[in-house]
Amino acid sequence: MSTPGHRRSKRIAIANNKGGSGKTAITVNLAAAYAEQGLDVLVAEMDPQTNAGRRLAHQPDPARPTISEAIKADQQGCAGDAFADIGWPEPYSDRITLLPSRDDVENRVLEAAELGSVLRLGNALDGADDDFDLVLIDCPPNLGHLTQMALSAADYAVAVMDPELDGISGALKLGGFVTEKRRLLHNPNLAVAGYIVNRLDMRVGAHSFQAEEGIPDEFGDALILPYINERAVIKDAADNAPPVPVRLMGGRGPEVADAFKAVSKELAKRIGLKLPAEVG
Ligand SMILES: Nc1ncnc2c1ncn2[C@@H]1O[C@H](COP(=O)(O)OP(=O)(O)O)[C@@H](O)[C@H]1O
Ligand SMILES: [Mg+2]
Repeated sequence: MSTPGHRRSKRIAIANNKGGSGKTAITVNLAAAYAEQGLDVLVAEMDPQTNAGRRLAHQPDPARPTISEAIKADQQGCAGDAFADIGWPEPYSDRITLLPSRDDVENRVLEAAELGSVLRLGNALDGADDDFDLVLIDCPPNLGHLTQMALSAADYAVAVMDPELDGISGALKLGGFVTEKRRLLHNPNLAVAGYIVNRLDMRVGAHSFQAEEGIPDEFGDALILPYINERAVIKDAADNAPPVPVRLMGGRGPEVADAFKAVSKELAKRIGLKLPAEVG
């Protein structure tokens, strides 16, 4: 079985039980940032909403397996059979691979009571993701079985929050969940790599208070800076036809892509991920 000590890839579960905080936006844009820096990234979509695949311009093929079949099969390394291309241009398409989801993944929750079922995503990835530098697992907006499989498979969790009480409380809940449940998830070494703040709008009173006082007081050094602002170009890139990396959008696209790159560098530092510029 591949363990963090043997496997090259580092697996990160991106989670928060609150929907709309931007887990998928962070997943997709961090994948883009790491690809721009020359890393090979697998995006594992653990959410029946399939937003990550769509935003990566992936064309679903009903004849091919998805993460749902991989989990159900419960064979070591079987996730590799479901790996799929994204529809973004090069160099992103060369460096980002998708383990796509479909709505059927919701049915894997019915198997939660089966002994050891929480280990199934990790088992499906073991051996299949060795050649990636990084695996980003986009979680659904809950702490249920799908997120638990992701946390069981991961080396690290990252919480994404919008700077409002509900987002903050979701992030705190994830942190507590990791500490309290990691043994039950058969993953005692699971750690929170940090907390990312997304969708900041300083014109909103609650946001500016949280950004300046509430969040730094609560999370301190565990914050992964810089904060990501609310920017229409992020939505526009995601909803473009076809969807494209935000850097390729005009206007604020490159500036926003640079903010994601700064976050990617900070996260890399925290998890001991070497970026090519730092290698040799
Ligand atoms: N920083 C941002 N600026 C503008 N829109 C954003 C930002 N982050 C996310 N969004 C948009 O907000 C919506 C919810 O984000 P999403 O990534 O789907 O959240 P989650 O995966 O946590 O449910 C999406 O339409 C997404 O494009
Ligand atoms: Mg999402």
